Amino acid sequence: MTTEQIYFNLLPAVRAMFTGEYPTIANFTDKGALKFLPDSVKEYREWQNKHGQIISLYVEETEDIKQILSEIRSFSQTLTNNQKSMPVWIFIKDLGLIHLFGLPELSVADQDGQAIGDSWNRILGRLAFKVVMVTGGAQGFGAGIATSTFKQGAHVVIADMNRAKGEKLVGKFNSGKHPNRMIFVQADISDAESVKNLMIETVKAFGGLDVMISNAGVLRAGGLDELNEADFDFVTKVNYKGFYVCTKYASQIMKVQNKENRKGFSDIIQINSKSGLQGSNRNFAYAGSKFGGIGLMQSFALELIDDRIKVNSICPGNFFDGPLWSDPENGLFIQYLRAGKVKGAKNIADVKSFYEAKVPMKRGVTVDDVMRAVYYVIEQEYETGQTIPVTGGQVMK
Ligand SMILES: NC(=O)c1ccc[n+]([C@@H]2O[C@H](COP(=O)([O-])OP(=O)(O)OC[C@H]3O[C@@H](n4cnc5c(N)ncnc54)[C@H](O)[C@@H]3O)[C@@H](O)[C@H]2O)c1
Repeated sequence: MTTEQIYFNLLPAVRAMFTGEYPTIANFTDKGALKFLPDSVKEYREWQNKHGQIISLYVEETEDIKQILSEIRSFSQTLTNNQKSMPVWIFIKDLGLIHLFGLPELSVADQDGQAIGDSWNRILGRLAFKVVMVTGGAQGFGAGIATSTFKQGAHVVIADMNRAKGEKLVGKFNSGKHPNRMIFVQADISDAESVKNLMIETVKAFGGLDVMISNAGVLRAGGLDELNEADFDFVTKVNYKGFYVCTKYASQIMKVQNKENRKGFSDIIQINSKSGLQGSNRNFAYAGSKFGGIGLMQSFALELIDDRIKVNSICPGNFFDGPLWSDPENGLFIQYLRAGKVKGAKNIADVKSFYEAKVPMKRGVTVDDVMRAVYYVIEQEYETGQTIPVTGGQVMK
């Protein structure tokens, strides 16, 4: 079996089979890294006699993935029927070991001692143990989305080219105080090989993927006489092609999971822009890539709904407090001030006020505003293919 088959086909399916009320984690250790892998049923039985307390299965077939999955499926069914819980070990001859980690049962009582159920949700939040990927998660909106989803109990994968910033953010959250984890994977989301590797690293860490937030994006502003073809290609490659590549590989994992476990939905969420809803003067490369993203999103939504994958876009207005606008060296405010784009502006505050005044609600968008839309999209089970503006009334649809 190839590495791709293990991480795209085998592990997400097994994780889904053992997922009950809350998603579980499935880890895989290959044969080379194991001290012991039974070579025959006899050897496995001897091991089992010694370690009877570990719930385990031995699968002899190693080539036919359908056969392997079918054996694991009936094992999972037997455990459910016998109300056995995890951890579970699954040895696969010549291949390695799948280790499934369950979650302790929690029961929280109210003041009168009545059980009030859904306890992990109460302790962790709205995304307890879901696996959430945020592309471009090292800074700006992406870092905000990663932080918020982690605080709501998700396992989070930050996918970004910027290793220094990504690792710094991850370091802040893996203090050991949380039962969920955050990891960083260096990836260029416009490159198919890099994205394939990103998906493999995600499944290696958590066993699957529940929500993919396609947030990484770039901007090269300028009119027809200023922007060159290389700038146009660069913006198109990251914003437009990048969304396609990430959806292609994320949906492969989600399809496998949802085939095994037809409860709930997976989500693909594109962070688009108000420039995906309305043309943007001297910013055509960006606006074009974002308009194109809406076409992709709607088409993916139609194609993927039978696989229980919802696909939606969120279109924020200007994030004035983020680095794109506020970076002191090359943020848009300082650039516009230097270029004299805002008549009479003497400092950054003047430029900012000028742009804030264009918004009916007189302020830029915040991460919290965007997160309300993100949670709506995930929790709403009767909508797909939608563009959700978060623009303070600046763009009306
Ligand atoms: N800033 C705004 O005002 C604003 C408004 C509306 C929509 N948006 C959209 O929100 C998203 C995030 O914007 P932001 O302002 O937070 O951006 P940002 O520039 O602050 O951060 C973008 C992140 O994406 C990463 N990135 C860029 N290219 C990448 C690639 N090829 N592969 C992997 N990572 C890559 C960068 O390293 C960076 O960490 C973008 O899609 C943007 O179009 C931004």
